[in-house]
Order: sequence, then C-alpha cells, then structure tokens
Amino acid sequence: MSKTDTILEVEGLTVRFGGLVAVNDVSFRAQRGHITSVIGPNGAGKSTLFNLVSGAIRPSSGRVRFNGDDVTGYSPNALLRKGLSRSFQITNLFAELSVYENLRLAAQALEPASLLALPLGRSTRAVERADELITRFGLASKAGEIAGTLSHGEQRRLEIAVALASKPQMLLLDEPTQGMSHSDTAQVAQLIRELAQGDLSVLLVEHDVALVMDLSDHVVVLNQGARLAEGTPQDVRANPAVQAAYFGTEKVDHA
Ligand SMILES: Nc1ncnc2c1ncn2[C@@H]1O[C@H](COP(=O)(O)OP(=O)(O)O)[C@@H](O)[C@H]1O
Ligand SMILES: [Mg+2]
Repeated sequence: MSKTDTILEVEGLTVRFGGLVAVNDVSFRAQRGHITSVIGPNGAGKSTLFNLVSGAIRPSSGRVRFNGDDVTGYSPNALLRKGLSRSFQITNLFAELSVYENLRLAAQALEPASLLALPLGRSTRAVERADELITRFGLASKAGEIAGTLSHGEQRRLEIAVALASKPQMLLLDEPTQGMSHSDTAQVAQLIRELAQGDLSVLLVEHDVALVMDLSDHVVVLNQGARLAEGTPQDVRANPAVQAAYFGTEKVDHA
C-alpha cells in the first residue's frame, strides 16, 4: 500500500457527558505512515477524542473507520488485534514487573490465540520482540529493573515501547511528553519521528504547540469539542481562527 492512503477515518464523532458536548461532530482523516496530531487548549476534548478512537468510551454518534473497516464501539483489545494500539496519558505499566517482563507480556499478543496458554518463556516471538524494543528504546541497561523504579522519562518511553510490542499499524499517543524534562521531550520527539519513517502511522494528541508543529504531517485543531481547523502545520499556524482561539491565548499566557 502507498504511504498516502487513509488508515484512520473519523466521521461526525460526538460524545455527550450529561449536558456537555465534549466532542462535537469531529471529522478528520489520518494517512498511513504519517504523523497526524490533534491539538487544542486544555479542556478542548483531546483526551476524550483519543478515548473515543481507542475504544475506551463509545460515541453518542459518529463513526470510526480503521483500514476501511467500521470499528466504532470496538473495545481497546479488539482494536489492538486490528492493529491500532494506544499509550495513555496515565501510566499503563505493570509497576511491579521488570522492564523486560512488561515488554514480553505486551509482545505476547503476537502469538496466535492457540499459543496464548503456553508459559511466557516459550513464546520465542515475544522474547525476540522484547529484546528488539529494549535495544531500540535505549533500555538495555534497565531490562531487569522494576518498571515502577524507573525515572518518569524512562517510564514514558517504556510505555511507548509496550504499545508497540504487538507491532501495530497505528500508534495513538496522548501527551507522551507530559511532565518530561526538555531533554527527555526531545528524545521522545526524535523517537516518534523515527517510528513514522517506517510504515507506522501515529495519531498524537498533544497540547504542546511547538512539539506538534515540529513533528506533524497533518494537524487537527480542537476548540470546545469542535474541529476549528485542519491542515499542514503551516496552514494551521496561519489560520486566524486558530491564532485567536489558541495561539492568542498562548501569547497572553507567556507575556
Ligand atoms: N468522563 C467525563 N465525564 C464528564 N465530563 C468529562 C469526562 N471526561 C472529560 N470531560 C470533560 O470534557 C471536556 C474535555 O475534556 P478532555 O477531553 O480531557 O480535554 P483535553 O484532553 O483537551 O484537555 C472537559 O470539559 C472535561 O471536563
Ligand atoms: Mg487531555
């Protein structure tokens, strides 16, 4: 398949929490092998949109298509089997297991269902994948360490590795650099860039404008639950509505 076909299509996605329309008729497409980002101020509905796409919550209306299949309302596990994996804003590791065990467990999804009952040690594919990711993510010296004892930056990196263990086609990331130092943020940005140089598609939900503008092929701007603008980073930056609603506030914040 070419690098420019649609992998994810969100159409008229809406969810209400009581009287609040947290995500309001949002539509966009993400292209295969690209980094597509959703930005917006705090409370814009980014995490809710992420939860809708990743299957954590169901929409009030609208559709999610992945590789042309309607996957609206699929559970996160069903989506993972389809090739859509996510890494949370809230940590998703087994804090008491080692770095290696976290990766090996996640990579177990590579085995056919009939082999899932086997003891973990016998899954060669999972072991190979865990080894590969440990090296790639610079965690070799930490392989035996308990995940809960890693630094914040290392834990976030491990989370992304865990989300990739099953070799998904698309990775969903919700604020992957939240709470990170400058150098850890730069490292994760570089990692995301490298991941998307292959066939992996990335959907990044992020409020850090500089990071998004630097990384993304395509940007969707949310404001108060609705899509305010969409386009290349340059298009979006130049859009007066975006400047007023988003960059305008940023400037005031930093003044
Ligand atoms: N489970 C929920 N129940 C009720 N309101 C929610 C829930 N989740 C999010 N919200 C509300 O939806 C809006 C969007 O939140 P969120 O998606 O977390 O924004 P963002 O990630 O862009 O900061 C906010 O007003 C938030 O308070
Ligand atoms: Mg959020």
